[in-house]
Amino acid sequence: MRILIFSFAILFFSVANVVSNQEQDSTLQIIHVNHPSYPLRPKTTLSWEDSVLQMQSNDESRVRYLSMLASARQTVPIASGSQITKNPTYIIKVNVGTPAQPLLMALDTNNDAALVPCHMCLGCSSTTFNSTKSSTFNNVTCGSPQCSQVSNSNCGGKTSCHFNLPYGNSNVSANLAQDTLTLANNHIPNFTFGCVNSTTGTSLPAQGLMGLGRGPLSFISQTLTLYNSTFSYCLPNYKSSGFTGSLKLGPKFQPIQIKSTPLLKNSRRPSLYYVDLKAISVGANVVKIPPSAFAFDPNTGAGTIFDTGVQFTTLVMPAYVAVRDEFRRRMGKATVSSLGGFDTCYTVPITIPSITFMFQGMNMTLAQDNFLIHSTSGSTTCLAMAAEMDGSVNSVLNVIGSFQQQNHRILIDQPKSRLGVAWERCS
Ligand SMILES: *[C@@H]1O[C@H](CO)[C@@H](O)[C@H](O)[C@H]1NC(C)=O
Ligand SMILES: *[C@@H]1O[C@H](CO)[C@@H](O)[C@H](O)[C@H]1NC(C)=O
Ligand SMILES: *[C@@H]1O[C@H](CO)[C@@H](O)[C@H](O)[C@H]1NC(C)=O
Ligand SMILES: *[C@@H]1O[C@H](CO)[C@@H](O)[C@H](O)[C@H]1NC(C)=O
Ligand SMILES: *[C@@H]1O[C@H](CO)[C@@H](O)[C@H](O)[C@H]1NC(C)=O
Ligand SMILES: *[C@@H]1O[C@H](CO)[C@@H](O)[C@H](O)[C@H]1NC(C)=O
Ligand SMILES: *[C@@H]1O[C@H](CO)[C@@H](O)[C@H](O)[C@H]1NC(C)=O
Repeated sequence: MRILIFSFAILFFSVANVVSNQEQDSTLQIIHVNHPSYPLRPKTTLSWEDSVLQMQSNDESRVRYLSMLASARQTVPIASGSQITKNPTYIIKVNVGTPAQPLLMALDTNNDAALVPCHMCLGCSSTTFNSTKSSTFNNVTCGSPQCSQVSNSNCGGKTSCHFNLPYGNSNVSANLAQDTLTLANNHIPNFTFGCVNSTTGTSLPAQGLMGLGRGPLSFISQTLTLYNSTFSYCLPNYKSSGFTGSLKLGPKFQPIQIKSTPLLKNSRRPSLYYVDLKAISVGANVVKIPPSAFAFDPNTGAGTIFDTGVQFTTLVMPAYVAVRDEFRRRMGKATVSSLGGFDTCYTVPITIPSITFMFQGMNMTLAQDNFLIHSTSGSTTCLAMAAEMDGSVNSVLNVIGSFQQQNHRILIDQPKSRLGVAWERCS
């Protein structure tokens, strides 16, 4: 079996026909960064072990970043050179301006920002949007209501709404702007976004960022009348050759019958999609985990979120240890080994058929493809989850990662305040 080889090259690229014309109405393709036709796909010479270690270290900094967001800290405790979403996992194609300029942007379900790399941008390394070519482009002015929603706006003497945004170790400088955004066949006139003028550091993805968080100036809030805060995505299986999934915007094409769990809101961090994880079972056995490991607390940011930027589900230490120990117990006398952040690996077949996340009102049962990662040669298999590494006060957030979500449709339905999950072969 093949596994994902993680990307880390940032190159110049042109937006070729990466996205096929299968798109219709409000459905967009989601491309994995490892998609064969994705121009930024790296040519890596990493061994399986090294690529897994790479994925793990990316996850650790992403989880640290999400923990920081959850606890509403002002600054991000990121070591230099570490990454948040510089190497995004999923990409969508958007069109900005009139006539439309196609851009491939990084998808981030837990961020509000829409950041478009604009022409003349200092430090942007990919295709940029040339606003002077667009007849529908407008700068947002300083006195406008949108400008007052931007933190760190800097209007001193200027008429356009300029702002600085710390993003991991990046310092993003942008002008608030508006233009027509076209997604699949939907036109969104006067969409407000940050037109990035300069960026330092390594955290901001070269592609720019399309956030699907639910804060005040987010894409979700701006498209309320069109999509009614409803979308779903299906992340493709890394093993499939096509690597494409789909993002469906709006209530129209969503599954009618879907099991779901209530979405919880942390008012200090409205953009994060919290749910109430209550228990985990390994096979049929419900693992004994102290309820405090799952407790939702808006003050500390504790709880459980779904995220597409973290590859492997990361649990707070007491929850992870309990799951791992039950897993090992059920594997009996088989010799356990470790690999990087994975501490439960075997060279014999795994006899555990499933792992179930039990949410309030919904069980999400994972087949082996969603909790086991196999080496390229097939000789080593690891439990594809990890403990939050920090071990400090930050360690309060459980994150359901993309490996566990792949080949499921995840529905975010804010009017009904629920997160739905349905099995789907999307790749
Ligand atoms: C944008 O960046 C360019 C350099 O690339 C600089 O000359 C210009 O002053 C910047 N504009 C704003 C509004 O910051
Ligand atoms: C942006 O478009 C203008 C008008 O077509 C053109 O003169 C300029 O060279 C373009 N800039 C870049 C960086 O492509
Ligand atoms: C938008 O603002 C930038 C920077 O202040 C300026 O260079 C540009 O000409 C403005 N564009 C329009 C359409 O007003
Ligand atoms: C980010 O850029 C702004 C404007 O150039 C500057 O005032 C600020 O000090 C920078 N912050 C960091 C952390 O570099
Ligand atoms: C977009 O904004 C511009 C400038 O504020 C305005 O003239 C125009 O009517 C708006 N278009 C739509 C479709 O709202
Ligand atoms: C959004 O969905 C809710 C529940 O389905 C419905 O009651 C409401 O009217 C919808 N709002 C819009 C703007 O379509
Ligand atoms: C989830 O699974 C457990 C154990 O099998 C069962 O007791 C519970 O009723 C299930 N919950 C839902 C919502 O189906």
